[in-house]
Parts: sequence; C-alpha cells; structure tokens
Amino acid sequence: MCGIVGAVAQRDVVEILVEGLRRLEYRGYDSAGVAVVNNAGELQRVRRLGKVQALTDALSETPTPGGTGIAHTRWATHGEPSERNAHPHLSNNDLAVVHNGIIENHAALRRRLEEAGYRFDSDTDTEVIAHLVHYNRQNTASLLEAMQATAQELEGAYGTVLLDRADPERLVVARSGSPLVIGLGIGENFIASDQLALLPVTRRFIFLEEGDVAEITRSDVRIFDKSGAPVEREIHESTASYDAGDKGPYRHYMLKEIYEQPQAVANTLEGRLSETGVLDETFGNGATELFKQVKHVQIVACGTSYHSAMVARYWLECFGGVSCNVEIASEFRYRKSYVQPNSLVVTISQSGETADTLAALRLAKDLGYLGSLAICNVAGSSLVRESDLAFMTRAGAEIGVASTKAFTTQLVGLAMLVLAIGKYNGLSEDEQHGMVLALKNLPGKLDETLELASQIEELAEEFADKHHSLFLGRGEQYPIAMEGALKLKEISYIHAEAYAAGELKHGPLALIDADMPIIVVAPNNDLLEKLKSNVEEVRARGGILYVFADSEAHFESDATMRVINLPHTRWLAPILYTIPLQLLSYYVAIIKGTDVDQPRNLAKSVTVE
Ligand code: M6R
Repeated sequence: MCGIVGAVAQRDVVEILVEGLRRLEYRGYDSAGVAVVNNAGELQRVRRLGKVQALTDALSETPTPGGTGIAHTRWATHGEPSERNAHPHLSNNDLAVVHNGIIENHAALRRRLEEAGYRFDSDTDTEVIAHLVHYNRQNTASLLEAMQATAQELEGAYGTVLLDRADPERLVVARSGSPLVIGLGIGENFIASDQLALLPVTRRFIFLEEGDVAEITRSDVRIFDKSGAPVEREIHESTASYDAGDKGPYRHYMLKEIYEQPQAVANTLEGRLSETGVLDETFGNGATELFKQVKHVQIVACGTSYHSAMVARYWLECFGGVSCNVEIASEFRYRKSYVQPNSLVVTISQSGETADTLAALRLAKDLGYLGSLAICNVAGSSLVRESDLAFMTRAGAEIGVASTKAFTTQLVGLAMLVLAIGKYNGLSEDEQHGMVLALKNLPGKLDETLELASQIEELAEEFADKHHSLFLGRGEQYPIAMEGALKLKEISYIHAEAYAAGELKHGPLALIDADMPIIVVAPNNDLLEKLKSNVEEVRARGGILYVFADSEAHFESDATMRVINLPHTRWLAPILYTIPLQLLSYYVAIIKGTDVDQPRNLAKSVTVE
C-alpha cells in the first residue's frame, strides 16, 4: 500500500506533493514524509508519525521549499509506525527514496550492505533500496543505471522513486508489482502511485508497466523496459474525477457513502437495462460472444468484494444456469487449481489495485480461462486495464476505509451479470422481466430502508459495552452476515463472527450467553422456517437476538429479541439487508469513539500482498 508522489518543476512543489498525499491517504495513514532538494542544494526531509495533517502542520512551522521532491504516506509493513520508519529514507544524505511494496530479500541485502559499511537508521525494507542504489551508483554512469542494476537484485514488489542531491533536476522511478503513473505537465512532470494524486496538476498520464524503469526531468520522460531497452508507452487523457469533496451534512464519509447508496445504485443501473434484460454493451465489446459460451464462472476477490462474490455464487447457480466457484484471491493465486471447461474468470474490486486480486487475474490469464471480466469502481485501474471485459460500478469515490456503496453497487453489477449469462442458459423472458423490474425498484427500497436509521442508532447503544458478537444468515444472506461482521470489527473493533445459521449446533452455540449479541438477517425466503428454528435454538440458551426481518416474516419483539422490519423484497434481499448492518456498525463505532473513516491498522487500498 502506501502512497507516493514526486515532482520535478521550476516552481516550489511541496504544496503539490502534500495535496497529492492527502488524496492518497486512503492507501495508508501511519506516517507521512517529504524530501526536497532545497535552494542551498541540500536534501531536506520532514517526516511525521500519523496522518498527512501532522506533516502539513510540521511543514507550516518549517517551510521546505524546493523544485524537485518526493513524498510518501505509509501503511507499515516492516517496522512499527514511527517517525524513524517514515519515508523518505536516505542514504548518506545523498539519496532519498520512497517505496510502495515489500522487498522480500531485504534481510540478506541488509546484511550485505552493513558489511559494506552502510548504517541503517530504520527497521524498514525500503532502506535497503536507498543504500543499494547508493552502492551501485559508485560503479554506474547514472542514477538510472544504478536503479537498473538494483532492480536485478531486488525480490518482491516495489514502486519506488529516487531523488539524488547531486542531480536534483531528475527523478528515477521503477515499477515491479506496485503501480506507478507518470503525470505529464508543461515544463514540469510528476510521478505518483495513483493518478488521483496528480489530477490538480495534469490530466495526461503514462501508466508504467511491469519492470519499467524511467527517468523524469522537467522537459523529458525516458522509459526503459525490464530488458533495459528504451520504450514508448501510450499517453492517456484521464477523465477521472476526484470528488471526495466535503462531507456535506454528514459527520463521516462512511455515513455519507451509506446514504449515497440509492443514487449510486441508480447510477450503476442507468442506461444498462431494457424492459427484459441487460443491454449487451454493459460489459464491453465482445461480451455477448463470450457470455454465449460460458458454462462456469470462477470469481476471485478480497474482503468485502469477496463477500459480494459469495452472493453471486448463489445467484449464478440459482438463476444464471451456470456453475460458480468463489475464492479469496490470496488463496487462489498460490494453489494449483483446475480450470473448468468454458470458464469465465471474474475479479471484483473497488479499487482495482488490490495486489492479490491483480495477481490472481494474471495467474488466471496464464491458466487459460475463456476470458476475464473485472467488476470495479475505478476506471483506468490496473484490474480494468488488464481484463478483457469490465463492468464499472458507478459508486463514485469511496473514501471511508469501510466499504459500503462499492459493495452494494458490486452486487448490482453481479445481478446484471446473472441476467446477461442467464439468458443463454435457460432464464426465461418472464423471469428476466421480473428481475429487471426488481432492479429498477431497488433505489426506492434502499431509500425506505435508510429510514430505519434512528431505530438502528437506538439499538447500537446496547452493543457499546460488548466485546463479541455473532452474525447469522442462511443461503445468500450468509455472505451478508459475513459482511455485517466485517463492518463491525473493522470500525468498532468489536470481535464479530459470522455463521451460516445451520452451523450453530456444530460448535458456536457453546458461545451463547447474554453478553453475546446475535444479529440475524431474516428476509422472507425459502429458508425462513429453517432460520426460525435456529433463532429458537439461540433463545433457548439465553441469547439476546437482534433480528432484521421481512415485514411478512412475523418475528415479534420481546424481552430477548429486538426486531426491525425491512421492506419486502425477494432476490435482491442481500442488497437491502446490507444497509442496516452498515448503519449498526457505524453507530456502534460512533458510541465507541473510534476513527470511523480511517480505522486503526487499515488502509483503503491494499496494494501489497
Ligand atoms: O479494493 P478492493 O475491493 O479490492 O478491496 C478489497 C478489500 O481490501 C476491501 O474490501 C476491505 O475488506 C474493506 N476495507 C472492507 O470494508
């Protein structure tokens, strides 16, 4: 993870760097730092533990002007979050380095460099890059060559940017496993780990490819591929927008994003549905031909996106007429798997930069799937660029680390995928018509569900002193229980587990007592009676239940059960039942006083494995 920004310009670049870091804070917020070559030709570095604001405050006390600089916001991997572990790291006060990724052979390199006389000031793997480039610089003609030599010795993943005190008119950058994008200005050029950081200064971008090393000056950009040959990379005009904006009337981005869901879903549906199905172009050129052949779908994703994949498995096998496997990307990428005939691989990701998901996609392409489809919220992201087909969720920028509107819009995309594949696999026109209607009615139902907020806020009071909780669901609501549990632990730090309700008697029932709130998602579906039996099993053992139920499911509140009724819905119930669980975790976190938008130890985009 971590965010990188760099600039070479005639003007003072520190403001640009810091604004870039603010926009990249979703990638980590353990510490932040900046280094520039100042007017006296010295490397000047300012670093602070904590968020970018702490760095901004420090810079206002110690102005650090310079025309060439690099900056970094960190999510700690090697070495605790602290000022001494914050980037940029220096070698001999000559070279400054920022890095995103993990150097796997850092321990061996560190030993070698220490033997060569280098002194390490941090516990990070990054510092080996600084010293190794410095070491190689002595036997090479330029910083670029020193970086190319260093790249031969580094194992693992890196996106890195180097600044040399003796040659302050240039930055050298290298990409291997962690994205970097060059921003082209007029008489000035930039580098960042995400184009979002550079939108205030340019719209013209070059995405570096795996193994690229590049040299950036004010007037020129030279790129070399992994064999060292000079290459031209395409220039992209970006239409991306950065609409983090302010929080409006909301106290947190997460709450704003929860309330944006009806509109985000409406945007995701817009122009993509006919009366009886999904318009072919929704998934991109060639989708129709591909979908006609699909008999199996393999989905890979992480975290919340994995939960949406799990819902899709129920839907694809129930309505889509094809078999489906779902796997966590970090597992899929490291095991030998069997490719079913006529298989489509689908990756799901809000950011499109999740390292494990990206690696799983690359593996799948080597394994010989029919084709690949990315369901993603960020246009131009690595996942979208590297997939054959893409479905863009139109959730808008999601700033809160806890994913909300990205999840519900992913589910909308997956619902449309079910229709698109199902029509070639036995889904009747009548069924399609009914499903399309349900999708069109969804934003309205979401609005109705959000009206439950004050009831849920009241309920949250009862969770604030709890240390553990259990979420239960059956069928396609089991992944929703998992998502509810993830939300609660992520932002309130309360331990939460999810179980398929039928599993209770196989172990978890032993946990039930009055201190363990049990949250149940109970729409009116074919499994309702089974779920009611599971609820009784909990009640009989003194458990306190919080049931989110269909108004037609006939649950009644009493001393051991609090019931909140949701609008009636059938196949899209997983989307609706997500809302109260998001609100519950939000209000519990508010009562506990945690950092809702940037919970401890986490980052929005997980670009390291
Ligand atoms: O950007 P992605 O959807 O690929 O991210 C995957 C997970 O890191 C992400 O969903 C994470 O679990 C969220 N913080 C959950 O709220």
